[in-house]
This record gives sequence, structure tokens and C-alpha cells, in this order.
Amino acid sequence: MEEFKLYINGEWKETDSQAEVLDKYTQKPFALVHKASEQEVGDAVTAADEAFQEGALSPYERFEILKRVSDLLRKKKEEFAKMITKEAGKPLKQARTEIDRAIQTIELSAEEAKRINGEGVPVEAAPGSENRMAFTIRVPAGVVGAISPFNFPLNLVCHKIAPAIAAGNAVVLKPASKTPLTALKLAALFHEAGLPKGFFNVVVGSGATVGNQMMEDERIALYTFTGSTEVGMKLKQNTGMNKLILELGNNSPVIIDKHANIDKAAENTAAKSFAFAGQTCISVQRLYVHEEVRTAFEEKFIEAIKKLNVGDPNDSETDVGPMIGDEEAEGALAWIEEAKSEGAKVSHGGNREGALLEPTVLTNVDESMKVVSEEVFAPVVCILPFSDIKEGIREVNKSKYGLQGGIFTQDVDTAFYAAKNVQIGGFMVNDSSQYRVDLMPYGGVKNSGWGKEGPKYTIEDMTEERLIVMNLSDPS
Ligand code: SIN
Repeated sequence: MEEFKLYINGEWKETDSQAEVLDKYTQKPFALVHKASEQEVGDAVTAADEAFQEGALSPYERFEILKRVSDLLRKKKEEFAKMITKEAGKPLKQARTEIDRAIQTIELSAEEAKRINGEGVPVEAAPGSENRMAFTIRVPAGVVGAISPFNFPLNLVCHKIAPAIAAGNAVVLKPASKTPLTALKLAALFHEAGLPKGFFNVVVGSGATVGNQMMEDERIALYTFTGSTEVGMKLKQNTGMNKLILELGNNSPVIIDKHANIDKAAENTAAKSFAFAGQTCISVQRLYVHEEVRTAFEEKFIEAIKKLNVGDPNDSETDVGPMIGDEEAEGALAWIEEAKSEGAKVSHGGNREGALLEPTVLTNVDESMKVVSEEVFAPVVCILPFSDIKEGIREVNKSKYGLQGGIFTQDVDTAFYAAKNVQIGGFMVNDSSQYRVDLMPYGGVKNSGWGKEGPKYTIEDMTEERLIVMNLSDPS
């Protein structure tokens, strides 16, 4: 079995303890990864701290290193895609899209490295400050502690690492323990691209051990985390005055208005509800459908779902593969069963074989059920009828989450009304909640998070504004 070591201070480190990484389709081990103990986590933070204190890289050097990483990744696209499919169970065509997006994320970060600027501050306009001139510069925040999720083992790592490096920070990354290998392969690309030692370190282990130790290390200036709201809140409560970027849960709503193009809405939402088995924070989960178009929409939606290929993620034609583990699929099924016992009807799917849960559509549901009010993070969609757009939006806003959502409508007034009144970080008109390109600001309100991703926005968060005031005298 191939062995993967930790990456600390520019070197590959073996440890006393290893974990098996499972092929998520067969659920059989295919690789071993070394696990970090307290010692390695401490060493990684020390390495990052020293690199940051000693080794400032110029913006141009950061640009060049990141550019080289993106070039290397482009050359290794297929190798990385196959690794994502194996360790995450993501269908190969979606894994290939993830590599393309990661290349974009790294390139955008490289470009942004050259655009980190401050502004002039007209302090001379204040009485008594006539001889002064002032301006701001943006300086790197310091050591960044990054904790990434299993669902995008490459691109969501890149959304943390690439802007951090572009901004001049040093990073310690804890990738998801179920999918650590892609991140270690990415570290190898940074190594090959000439990133000096200590600027990027990867430590593997659980949240309870490695994550907690990172959370308590005062040398870490900023945390960037993608994952559950529960862990995000714990980070927020335990990291004092540290800066935080949190990308958390969502139960994404999409409204199908009576003025919608029903064919387009059905095709789009069928594809976007079940991609990567619904395990993205912006997968469609709550479909609010206007009573007047409900029957027509439901028929077409289910017709479109039947066309999705479900099964082996290694097959390039597969649309919906396994969930990350049997346990997670079992958990999702338990929520479906609970909803059924409370009156929900299964209009499609509802069966499980190991980690493979069929795309499932539930009707006759309400917000008292977990499948509606909590983040299900599985291929499960709930259809909720409404009869008035204002009422529909009120229902959308009842959620404790607010990451992304969407509306399908051909009516411009309805589109603007909805966009203005939903409580959400990003809103798509005539598209589903699951629209994301990597340059856009991405982040939620309410329990969905804090701060934004998208290299330009992350760099803003990962730098501090410093004011410099010059007290000038007449030259003699
Ligand atoms: C996420 O699950 O939050 C990321 C979604 C994406 O990048 O497409």
C-alpha cells in the first residue's frame, strides 16, 4: 500500500502511528497515511512561525511560486482527479472539474499577490496635522491555521492555502482525516515549485487531537475552517481575539416561482441537488415550489433525476456516486425514515446500498423535520409548496442558515424582490444555489459562517491594515 508522510518544515516526516485511507466506493483501504502527534503539530506551527518571522517573500516571488504550482497541477490533472475519486468517492467527471477550479483558485491568488495595496489617508485635513502625510499598507496576518473538509479535498484546500501564501502568510493545514492524500500531493507541488521551507505544513489527524491543539496554539494568528456549524462555533468560542474565516453549514433553498421556465428549472435543480451525492454546502435541499406549477415541476424534476447515472464514481459517465462513508449514508437514511414516520412521502429514491444512497425526493414535509431544518449533506431534497412569493421568501428566511440560494422566475419584479429580501450570502436568479466560480465572494450569514472565500476577499481577511503617518518638517 502506498504510504503518505506528513509535510513539515519542507520535509516529509514519518511518525509512529498510521491510518488506513479507504477507497470510498469499495470501502477498502488503498493507502496509509502517517498521523501527527502533539510533537508534529507543535513542530509544524514552529516551522510556520519561523518561516513567517524570518523569510518574507516578495509579492512577485509569491506570484511566481503560485503560478508554478498551477502549471504543475495542470500537468498532473488526471492523477489528482483519480486520487480525489478514490479517497472521496467523487465521480470522476466532477473530480476533473474540481482540478480545473483549483487551477483557477491558485492562479487568481497568484494574480492577487500583485494587487495587495493600501490607500492614502488625508490626515492633513485635520486641524493641527497640516505637516503630516499618511497612508495604509496591508501586511500579512501571520501564521494561518487551516482546517479543510472532505468534500473538496483539493479546491477547498486551495481556497485556504493559495490566498494565504499570496498574502505572505505561513500555513499549517489539517486536511479532513477521511481525505488527507490530495492535500499531501498538493504540498509536493508547492515543494517542487520552490516554496521555502516552513511556509506550508500539512499535519494529519482528527479534529479532537490535531484540530484542538491547533485551536489552542497562540502562535496561530488566523483560523480558516470549512465544516460543520457545530465545530465552527467551537472555534469561534475558543479562539479569543484571533481572526476567523468560517464556511459552515446550509440547507440551501431554491424557489420555483409560478413564472419559472419549468423545464430549465427541473433539469438544473436535478443536477445540482445530487452532484457529489449532495455533499456540498450549496447542494439544493429545500425546493419551494409555487402551487400553480407544482405538479408540472415535480413530474419533470423526477424525470430529470431518473436520467442521472448512479453508481461507480470511477466511471466517467457517473453523476451520483457514494457518500463519504456507510455511516453517513445510514445517518441520512435515518433522517428520511424519521421524516416518513412524521408524515413525509418519498416521491423518488429512499434506498441505500452501503454508502450509496439513491437520489431521494421527499414531499409532504415541513420545517419541524430535520430533513428540512438541518443540513442533511446527502442526496436528499424536500419539496415545499407555497402560494404567494412573499410567503415563500418568509419560509426561506426561517432557516438558521444563509449561505446560498436561488430562484427560477422569468418575472423581473419577482426576481428583484426575492434578491432583496432573502437573508443569504449569495443569491442566484435562474440558477440553483449550487452555482460557484472561484473568483466570486463566497460565504454566508447567520449560522452559515463568517468572512468570505474567493482569493481577493480571503486576502483582505488574511492581511491587516497598517497605518503609517509621516510627521514632516521643512527641509533645511
Ligand atoms: C462547499 O461545499 O462549501 C463548497 C462548494 C463549492 O466550492 O462548489
